[in-house]
Amino acid sequence: VSEVALPGDDDPDTAHFCALDSSDRVVGTGSVRPEAPPWEPASGPAWRLRGMATEPDVRGSGIGTAVLTAVIDHVAGLGGGLLWCHARTPAVEFYRRAGLVTRGEAWLDPAIGPHIVMWREVEARPAAR
Ligand SMILES: CC(C)(COP(=O)(O)OP(=O)(O)OC[C@H]1O[C@@H](n2cnc3c(N)ncnc32)[C@H](O)[C@@H]1OP(=O)(O)O)[C@@H](O)C(=O)NCCC(=O)NCCS
Repeated sequence: VSEVALPGDDDPDTAHFCALDSSDRVVGTGSVRPEAPPWEPASGPAWRLRGMATEPDVRGSGIGTAVLTAVIDHVAGLGGGLLWCHARTPAVEFYRRAGLVTRGEAWLDPAIGPHIVMWREVEARPAAR
């Protein structure tokens, strides 16, 4: 756990989502918390997505999309705003399908490979009547 822990994981504003298979094995994860993006301005709330991953043996079966949809729904339920992440470049297409777009140039993280910023606006979910 210490190897994959991220700063802010225990903050009360950080939300963690996971997908479980029928044996209660965690097969997908994603976390989101309020955090300004690394550019100006971002008026309004901003949310950073981190820790998106699925187990290799379930990839391509919709679990990543399910976790990401839960993250987007969480943001929408808390008023929406700008959702952004540092995307590994091989995952750009995955995020694109969820409406995120790239911003700026890719850079190389020596530990985990090339990354690029991606983001989208999430509309607030209308209050239930
Ligand atoms: C990126 C990741 C989370 C996607 O999870 P997943 O469970 O495979 O996602 P889904 O099954 O919902 O994939 C949705 C679609 O995107 C496609 N897709 C998934 N990963 C892809 C990738 N790396 N490149 C291109 N397309 C991808 C799937 O084939 C699927 O296509 P389909 O709808 O035509 O079937 C997963 O591949 C992963 O954990 N990768 C390693 C860690 C990583 O890169 N995390 C992101 C860090 S920013």
